[in-house]
Amino acid sequence: MSPIKYLDEIEIKGARVLIRADLNVPVDGNGRVTDESRIVACLDSIRYCLNRRCKVTVCSHRGRPKDAPDPKLSLLPAADTMARLLGIDMILADSPGGAAALQQSLALKPEQVLLLENLRFHPGEKKNDPAFAEMLAKFGEVYINDAFGVLHRAHASVVGVTGLAKKAVGGFLVKREVYKLGRLLADPERPYLTILGGAKVSDKIGLIYNLAEKVDTIMIGGAMAYTFLAAQGIPVGKSLVEQDKLGVAEEIIHQCRQLGVNVLFPVDHLVTPRIEDPGKVEVTRSADVPEGMIGVDIGPRTIELFCRHIARARTVFWNGPMGLFEVQAYSRGSVSVARRIAECMGYTVGGGGDTLAAIRQAGMMAWFTHLSTGGGAALEMLEGASLPGLLALGDAAQRMAPPATEEAALARSRPA
Ligand code: 3PG
Repeated sequence: MSPIKYLDEIEIKGARVLIRADLNVPVDGNGRVTDESRIVACLDSIRYCLNRRCKVTVCSHRGRPKDAPDPKLSLLPAADTMARLLGIDMILADSPGGAAALQQSLALKPEQVLLLENLRFHPGEKKNDPAFAEMLAKFGEVYINDAFGVLHRAHASVVGVTGLAKKAVGGFLVKREVYKLGRLLADPERPYLTILGGAKVSDKIGLIYNLAEKVDTIMIGGAMAYTFLAAQGIPVGKSLVEQDKLGVAEEIIHQCRQLGVNVLFPVDHLVTPRIEDPGKVEVTRSADVPEGMIGVDIGPRTIELFCRHIARARTVFWNGPMGLFEVQAYSRGSVSVARRIAECMGYTVGGGGDTLAAIRQAGMMAWFTHLSTGGGAALEMLEGASLPGLLALGDAAQRMAPPATEEAALARSRPA
């Protein structure tokens, strides 16, 4: 992949800029944003442009509308939050493109911000439709991608428009994520530990294979641990098991052993006969889950085991909670892991919506080296995949680079 150019490497004074942000934020029944972190994360780039008297158009998707306007998925709540955080009045366009929105963008004065409506209201966004990308390209002379969370999507606002813009660069959030997550793959300090949890093994197969080549220890908790335990013939009661992934789980354990990676599973659990019955929780005596019981969190001996390893680690990556942490009675495992990582003196990274929610619940947000705003994008990057959005920015950087020699300049001016 070609190196990317970032916002601070180009001249943007007074320019009309289009910023692709990831404002895919949760909103409650009263239309209030319940987690502002993704909005906060893209403000550096927006402020940088406003300080340089740019006319700023911001675009984003929210949720997964069916290629048509859906008032429930409007960007209005994000616009209100962003306006409050920036301390300015923002203009929200009625649509993600079209003549009226373009007129609003062209009429912007320096230091004004227009937010386009949800990009996924247009059928061209997810299809990476060239006509829609061409329309988006009209919203700025400079295109800035600061939407780390969607770099794995080959959509019009991520890939198509990047290929059309005269200048296309990454924003500060993208720069931070690429650098901070990149350090987990390139020359991490040892011992290097990864803690994986969450519901499904299927979401993490690529990640485990890629990380197994780099880490010293993998600790597996959350519901996905039950698939691994079942694959080893350990009774898991009524716990969630992906029957069709038992073979993969077995293969992963084998592969980790071959590579000399220490893989740790829960040695005890918090179990209940019914998830809705937190009052009936019990701690198991071993890794076995008794018949009729469901595992809902790691047990105290597992917490101790996992925390002992975390304390010694110099690099830690955590993705996926240790149990159903949203229920107070089942949150001890995730909260304890969050606290122990926070106390660790090494390089600590958390990624994924649920993981960040667990870290927030533990009050440890400020203590991690980095909290990734990208769920799928972060996982794909750590799987070693090439993200379409980054590839497009790399190509754009090459197009923008001054040709090294006269000969190269001539070659570039010739038709392909
Ligand atoms: C995310 O929430 O991970 C990003 O905003 C991407 O959203 P998507 O999975 O709907 O493409």
